[in-house]
Amino acid sequence: MQFGHFDDTHREYVITQPDTPLPWINYLGSQDYFGIISNTAGGYSFFRDARLRRLTRYRYNNAPLDSNGRYVYLRDDDSRQFWSPTWQPTRRDLQDYTCRHGLGYTVIASTYQGIRAAIRYFVPLNETLEIWQLTLTNQRADAAHLSVFSAVEFCLWDAQDDATNFQRNFNTAQVEVSDGVIYHKTEYRERRNHFAYFAGSETLAGFDTQREAFLGEYRGWDNPAVVERGESTNSIAQGWQPIGSHHVPVTLQPNETRQIVFLLGYHENPPDQKFDPPNSQTINKRTVAPVIARYRDPANVAAAFDALRAHWDDLLERFQVKTPDVHTNRMVNLWNAYQCMATFNLSRSASLYESGIGRGIGFRDSNQDLLGAVHMAPARARARILDIAATQLESGGAYHQYQPLTKRGNNDIGSNFNDDPLWLILAVAAYIKETGDWTILEERVPYDNQPGTEQPLFEHLQRCIRYTLDRLGPHGLPLIGRADWNDCLNLNCFSDTPGESFQTTTNKDGKIAESVLIAGLFVVAAEELAALMERHVDDAGASVVYPDAAQKIRTTGLQHGWGGRWLRRADDAAGRKIGSHECDEGKIFIESQGWCVMAGIGLADGHAEKALASVKEQLATPHGIVLQQPAFSRYYLNLGEISSYPPGYKENASVFCHSNPWIMIAEAVVGHGDQAHDYYTRINPSAREAISDVHRCEPYVYAQMIAGRDAPTHGEAKNSWLTGTAAWNYVAITQWILGVRPTFDGLMIDPCIPRAWDGFKATRGFRGAMYHITVENPEHICRGIRSVQVDGKSIAHNVIPIFGEGTHQVHLVMGERST
Ligand code: GLC
Ligand code: GLC
Repeated sequence: MQFGHFDDTHREYVITQPDTPLPWINYLGSQDYFGIISNTAGGYSFFRDARLRRLTRYRYNNAPLDSNGRYVYLRDDDSRQFWSPTWQPTRRDLQDYTCRHGLGYTVIASTYQGIRAAIRYFVPLNETLEIWQLTLTNQRADAAHLSVFSAVEFCLWDAQDDATNFQRNFNTAQVEVSDGVIYHKTEYRERRNHFAYFAGSETLAGFDTQREAFLGEYRGWDNPAVVERGESTNSIAQGWQPIGSHHVPVTLQPNETRQIVFLLGYHENPPDQKFDPPNSQTINKRTVAPVIARYRDPANVAAAFDALRAHWDDLLERFQVKTPDVHTNRMVNLWNAYQCMATFNLSRSASLYESGIGRGIGFRDSNQDLLGAVHMAPARARARILDIAATQLESGGAYHQYQPLTKRGNNDIGSNFNDDPLWLILAVAAYIKETGDWTILEERVPYDNQPGTEQPLFEHLQRCIRYTLDRLGPHGLPLIGRADWNDCLNLNCFSDTPGESFQTTTNKDGKIAESVLIAGLFVVAAEELAALMERHVDDAGASVVYPDAAQKIRTTGLQHGWGGRWLRRADDAAGRKIGSHECDEGKIFIESQGWCVMAGIGLADGHAEKALASVKEQLATPHGIVLQQPAFSRYYLNLGEISSYPPGYKENASVFCHSNPWIMIAEAVVGHGDQAHDYYTRINPSAREAISDVHRCEPYVYAQMIAGRDAPTHGEAKNSWLTGTAAWNYVAITQWILGVRPTFDGLMIDPCIPRAWDGFKATRGFRGAMYHITVENPEHICRGIRSVQVDGKSIAHNVIPIFGEGTHQVHLVMGERST
C-alpha cells in the first residue's frame, strides 16, 4: 500500500493522502537556518543549533502527533467555515490534497469548497529566513470573501530550557509589533543580540502574539477562537506563550488568483547596536528592514526559489546514473544524495526522532556522513574535518560529540569510544581522494580546542592510529573502551542501576574487552594512512610502520577472531567470546563480517566467503540483514544496552540499516554483484514504497532501523533521515556496486553489478572534469574488465586519469581481459 508516488521528472515525492502512517518530513535550509516540515506542515525551525537557537516550538510526544507547525488557516467570511489547506491542524475533508517534498522545499496544496490553496515553503540560499508562499485561487462561480490567518508558536531559544523551566519562562516572553511585523525578542533585553521576526507581504487587519488570546482558553490549534470569530485581538504577549499570527482579509473574484507571502526569520544585531534609539528597549530594525522588504516582493521570492533549484541541480549533476533498475537510479540520482546532505548538515541533531536537544555533532557519525557528501560539498567537508579534528584529544582519543554552535567537545558524553579516532582518517582520505587537496594535511589544528596545542592535521591522523596501537588487549586486538561503532555493546559498563547511562558508565578497567570490528576498521584506516604518507611525506620509515601494523592486526584478527564459520564480534570484560557459536544468544554479528572482509581479512583463503555465506544463512531477512542472531531475550549485565532492547529492535537484532552496506561492500569485494545488489534492494526505501503500510516511514529516505525478524512488527522502520545509513548506502552503490570510485590517483571504475544488467551509464564530476561513463556487460557477468577506453584510446588499467577540466568519455566493457 502506498500513500503517494515518486515524481522523478520534477525531483519530488508526492504524498496524496495527509494521514500517512507517521509524519513524513522534509528539510528546509542547508547552511545556517534550518527547518523540518512534515506533509501536514508540522515541524519547527532553528538557527544552526536545534537546542540553543530554536525559533519555534514543537512537542514530540504530542497527541495527535505532529501538531505544532507552520500553520495557515483560511476562513470563509460568508459561511464562517474555516480550514487548514495543509490538513493539520483542523483536519477537514480536503479535496486534491498533495504534499510535494522537493529539494529544500515543500509544497502542500488542496482544495476546499472551491478555494484552491497551495503553500510553498523554502529557505532561500544564504538567508536566515524561511518563506511561506501562499497561492489562493477562487474556483467558485461567485466572489469569495476570505480571511487568512498565519500562526507559529515561538520557542524561547533554548529548547531544553523551554520545555522544562516554566517558573522562569512563563514570565520572560516579549514581543514587538511594528509595520505589520511581529518581532519575538525574549531575552533580547538582557544578554541576547538576536531576535525572530514574522512578516508578511500584505496589509493586516490585525495580529496576535499571545497564544491564549489566539486560541482561547482550553482550546487547541485545531479550533482557534480568533479564526472561528474571524477577528484578531491584537494581543501583545506578556510572558506565557508568545506566538505570531497575522490576519489578512482577501476578496477573490471567480478564477482570480492571489499570492501572499509570509516570512519567518532570524536576525542578529551587533551587541552595541541592539536598540534604536540607543537607550530605549526597542529593537534596532535598520539591518533587518531591507531583508524583510526584499522578500515582501514576490518577484524576489520567485528568483530566490529558482536559485535554490539551480543550486540543487548543480549538486546532483556531479553524479547521475542510468541503470536498468529504477530504484537504484532514483536513490543515487536524487534521494540518497539529498539525504546525505541532510546528515552532513545535521548529524544526528534534529529530526522527528532526534529532538535537537539530545545530541550534538557526533565524531564518528560526522566523519562517516562526510563520505556521502564530500563530492557535493568539498569546501564545507574541509571545514567540517578541521572542526572535528579540533575536538580530538592529545591522547589521540576524541570527544564523542560536540555542540554545533560552540564547536566544543561535549563533556556530558566524554570520550573513550575506541573506534572514534579511526573514522577521522577515513574522512580525510575520502576528502583528498575527491579533491586532490593535500594542503589540508598541513592545516594546524588544536587538540580539545586549546590554543597553543595546534599541530598539522597530519599529526592528528597519526595519533588516531597510535591511539589504537596503545590500546591493544590480551590477544593483540583493539580494546573496545566504552563501545565501538555499536554504541550499545557496552562491555565495560555492568550497570544495574535504573536510568544510568549505558554509554558513560564504566565499571571495569577496560583492559580486557576487545573488538573485532575495531580490528577491521583499524586495518582499513592504517592502510589509508599509509597511502597518504606514501604520497605526501618523504618518510620511508613511516610508510613501513602503518602497513606493518595493518598486516599484524589482520593476522591477529583472523587468528583470534575466527570462530569456525564466521568472525567473532568481541571478547567481554572476562575474556569470554561474544558473537561465537558457543554463545547462547548473539552467536553471530554483522559488523565484524563486514569490516573484516573490507580489511581483507580472510580474502586469500576463503574465510571471507565463508563469513559472508554465514551472514546470508543466519542474518539475512527479506527486510534486510539483522544485526545479530539470536536476539537477546533477556538483559545481560556483561553486554549492556544491546540487551536492553526488546528482541528485534534497535541494536538488539533489528535490521540496523547502517551496517547493511558494509556487507554489500564486502560482497562486492569478493565479486558477488548479484548478492550485493540484492541486499541493496532489500533496504532501498524506493523499493519498499509498495509496502509503505508495513514500512511506515518515508519511502524516499533511509531509516536507522527496520524491526527485525524477532519483533512482532518485522519490517516496520523507525528513526528516518539522520543515520549513517545514508552515506554508507551511497558509498556501497556508487563506489562498490557501480564501482565509480575516487582514488588518490584518478577515478577508478570497478563495477560489481547484477549479472542480468546489460551495463549502465554514469556521469561523474571529478576534480574539475566531467566523466561520461558507459559500462557494457555483454557476457552478463558480475565483475571483470575486458577493456577500457578513454576518449577513444585504450588504457591498460581501470583508473581514469585526472584531466582537471573538460568532458571525457569512458567506455568500459566487462568480461575476461583479453591479454
Ligand atoms: C547510532 C549512532 C551511531 C552508532 C549507531 C550504532 O546511529 O548515531 O554513532 O554507531 O547508532 O549503535
Ligand atoms: C542509544 C541507541 C543508539 C545510539 C545511542 C546514542 O544507545 O540505541 O542507537 O547510538 O543511543 O547515544
